[in-house]
Amino acid sequence: RTKIAALYADKDQLDGASVTVAGWVRSIRDMKNFGFVTLNDGSCFRGLQVVLNREALGDEAYDQAVSQSVGAALVIDGTLALTPDRPQPIELQAAHVSVEGPSAPDYPMQKKRQSREFLRTQQHLRSRTNLFRAVFRVRSVAAYAIHKFFQERGFVYVNTPIITASDAEGAGEMFRVTTLDLANVPRLEDGSVDWSKDFFGKPTNLTVSGQLQAENFAMSFGDVYTFGPTFRAEDSNTRRHAAEFWMIEPEMAFCDLEQDMDVAEEMLKYAITYVMDHCPDEMDFFNKWVDKGLKERLTHVATSDFARVSYDDAIKILEEAQDGGTKFEYPVSWGLDLQTEHERYLTEHHFNKPTFVTDYPKEIKAFYMRLNDDGRTVAAADCLVPGIGEIIGGSQREERLDILESRIHELGMDPEQYRYYCDLRRYGGCRHAGFGLGFERFVMYVTGIDNIRDVLPHPRTVGNADF
Ligand code: 4AD
Ligand code: MG
Repeated sequence: RTKIAALYADKDQLDGASVTVAGWVRSIRDMKNFGFVTLNDGSCFRGLQVVLNREALGDEAYDQAVSQSVGAALVIDGTLALTPDRPQPIELQAAHVSVEGPSAPDYPMQKKRQSREFLRTQQHLRSRTNLFRAVFRVRSVAAYAIHKFFQERGFVYVNTPIITASDAEGAGEMFRVTTLDLANVPRLEDGSVDWSKDFFGKPTNLTVSGQLQAENFAMSFGDVYTFGPTFRAEDSNTRRHAAEFWMIEPEMAFCDLEQDMDVAEEMLKYAITYVMDHCPDEMDFFNKWVDKGLKERLTHVATSDFARVSYDDAIKILEEAQDGGTKFEYPVSWGLDLQTEHERYLTEHHFNKPTFVTDYPKEIKAFYMRLNDDGRTVAAADCLVPGIGEIIGGSQREERLDILESRIHELGMDPEQYRYYCDLRRYGGCRHAGFGLGFERFVMYVTGIDNIRDVLPHPRTVGNADF
C-alpha cells in the first residue's frame, strides 16, 4: 500500500500509476453516477480525493462503496491522476474498493466543526479530526526537533526514574506510589504508617522532575538532557496545568545562568523553525483556524532576541503599570511570586516577546538554586511567552556544599534524602546550570491552542483520568 503522503510527494512520477491506499473515510458524497470520498491515512495532513465511478465499478460495488459512513476503514486500488485545475492536485480513480471495517452511523466525528469540550469527551476518536491530527503531528515533530537540537550539540540523553523517593521541587505536590492496602495500612505503635512494609521500604512518589538525577549525569557526561513524563498533584484547574506532562530538562556542567538562557533561547528558536519548516500544512491550518497571527509571530520570535529582565526590574514595571491604572487580581510587590496575569502583562504589554525573568527572591524558588551575592535572590531564569506565561523554569545550581546544606536545613528538608545530591558537591563539584521546558506549553505556543487538554493525547487533570 502507498501512503497518501508519498502520493503527494511523488505525484509527477505516479501520474497514471496503479496504487493501493488504505485509510478512513473523512467525507463521502454520492452524486448517483459519481461518488467522492475524502480518505485520510494519517501519513500527512491532507486527505486524498477518491473518485468512484458507477460505470467503472459496476452497480453493486458502487452502491456498497457510497453507502459507507464517515469513519469507515477502506482499502482502495485505483489509478492516480493529476488534477492541476482542481483545488486538490491529485485524485485517485477507484478500480476496487474493499471495506475493511464499516463505521456505525452514529460515528461522533462528523465533518462539521465540533467544540473542543465535546471532542475532549471523545479521546479515542478526536485524533481523527483535522485539528487534532495537526496538533499531534506537530507534537511528534517538535519532540524530534528537540532531541535533534541536543543530539547535534553532543548532549547525552538520560532517562531518569519515574518512581522516586525525593521531591525535586520541594513543593510537596506529589502522587504517592504504594502497594500498601489502603483499607488496612500497617501502622507503627505511635499510629503512623509503617512504610518499611511498603514495596520500596520507604514512601515513594511519581517524579515531579528528573533534574536531580540529571545533575548526576552532568557531572560525568558534561552536557545531558532528559525528556520524559513528570507528574504534579497541583490542585489547579487552569488551562495550562496538567497532572501528567512531559518535560525536557538539559543540565550542563561548567555553565552559568547567562549560558543557560542562551541554550534555552537557541533551543526554542530551533524547535519553532523546525516545526514551521516540516509541518507547513499543519501550520497553515492553525494560522487560518486557530490563531490568525501565529506564523508571523513565530517567524519573528525565531529571528529576534528575547528580552531579559531581573525580577527586581520586572516588579518595578508591574508596580508602575499598577500605579498607572492596570488592574491585577493579585497584588504586585517584591517577594511575591509572579502570577500568570503578571507574566502575561510583561510579555504581552511591556516587552511584546518571550522574556526571561531572572534572579527571583530565594523564598519563592526551589532549594537547589544558587544563592546570589546579595543573599536575598537566587540565580533563576524563567522564560515567559505571550499567551501562556511561563514555559521554562531554569537556574544555576548551588554548587557550594556548605550553602546547599544550610539551605536544606533552613527549609526543614530531610538531609538523608539529599545525601547523593550533596555528595556531588564533594567529589569534583562544579558550576552548573539547567532548565525545564514544559513540552505541552511549548506545543501550545507553536500551535496557538489555548488549553493544555488539547495538546495532550490523553490529558490527566484534576478529576479527569479517562481511558
Ligand atoms: O518551573 P518548574 O517547576 O521547574 C522544574 O521542574 C525544574 N526542575 C526544571 C529544571 O531546572 N530542570 O517546571 C518547569 C516547566 C515549567 O516552566 C512549565 O512549563 C512546566 O514545566 N510545568 C507544567 N506544565 C504543565 N502542567 C504543569 N502542572 C506544570 N508544572 C510545570
Ligand atoms: Mg517554575
